[in-house]
Amino acid sequence: MSKKILVTGGTGFIGSHTTVELQNAGYEVVIVDNLSNSKADVVDGIEKITGIRPAFEEVDCCDLPALEGVFKKYPGIQGIIHFAASKAVGESVEKPLMYYENNIVSLINLLKLMPEYGVKGIIFSSSCTVYGQPDPENLPVTEEAPIKKAESPYGNTKQINEEIVQDFVHSGAPISAILLRYFNPIGSHPSGIIGEMPNGVPANLIPYLTQTAIGIRPCLKVFGDDYDTPDGSCIRDYIYVLDLAKAHVAAMARILEGKNADPVEIYNVGTGKGVSVLELINTFEKCTGVKLNYEIAPRREGDIEKVWGNVDKANKVLGWKAVHTLEESLSSAWNWQKKLRERGIM
Ligand code: WQD
Repeated sequence: MSKKILVTGGTGFIGSHTTVELQNAGYEVVIVDNLSNSKADVVDGIEKITGIRPAFEEVDCCDLPALEGVFKKYPGIQGIIHFAASKAVGESVEKPLMYYENNIVSLINLLKLMPEYGVKGIIFSSSCTVYGQPDPENLPVTEEAPIKKAESPYGNTKQINEEIVQDFVHSGAPISAILLRYFNPIGSHPSGIIGEMPNGVPANLIPYLTQTAIGIRPCLKVFGDDYDTPDGSCIRDYIYVLDLAKAHVAAMARILEGKNADPVEIYNVGTGKGVSVLELINTFEKCTGVKLNYEIAPRREGDIEKVWGNVDKANKVLGWKAVHTLEESLSSAWNWQKKLRERGIM
């Protein structure tokens, strides 16, 4: 009998790729998503890739009765991977109450239901944003680095949610949790069937870059080249979404097999390598042969200068390592953008 996993936000970018990897690992997946930032046909895409159609319920995790109905309808859920959240840094500054309500109430509802329905573990989608701008001596940043005051309501919801999980487990709740602190997820499934689909004008670098490369956007603005970095542009740790998805499978197995040393564990999930915006653009041009139209623009408010992860703990304790190169990630993103064009989607 396959172990049943609830994936909230499972029709989203990281959630859909993780559902594929969970199914590949033999898990039965139930997706819950309110479709506020994704489309139901992603379920068809997942089925096309794996041959297995995950159960799908259009439910808002903030709606406790509706969410409880999912646990009733699908008895025996053993684990939860919680992706469902609003995630645009800039939007969170304009709409803080929406971010606090959506991102915090959804988690609290899941935690309330876990003991009642015998759910053993939860994997929480956290972010390197909790570190803020690490001090130079703390780069690459480890899980022990100090948590800095969040630069946005979005980042603050990640910090608050980490604390809520820790406090609930430490109150004696009969559950285990793993907090995965992502760096910058990029790329799309090599099949070109699922990928990153931002609504409207992309805030993140890679979708804006590939939309510029294909001609949807006239020019990519590089937000600043006067930072204290080798080429002046910001540095990030860009991780292929497939590698990130596999980290969730490893974390879920660790909990369900009772291998977690502590009831709450924290892991950085990145490549361990820092890449600047200009280096990334150069790599994109080299691996795709596409000349990108970009210009240097003023800094974007709220951006931190440089952050990349020390991923030794995930490599050694979780037994997971990112294996794809930046070239492979960027090529998959470009392949996805071309597929969207072929399908007349954008
Ligand atoms: C990356 C770099 C920009 C757009 C945020 C969240 C993180 C995660 C990913 C959700 C920065 C530069 C960007 C553009 C640019 N959130 N840039 N021109 O801000 O590092 O991380 O999104 O999963 O938690 O904090 O990602 O892709 O927006 O920016 O020059 O048009 O690209 O200045 O240096 P960020 P990003």
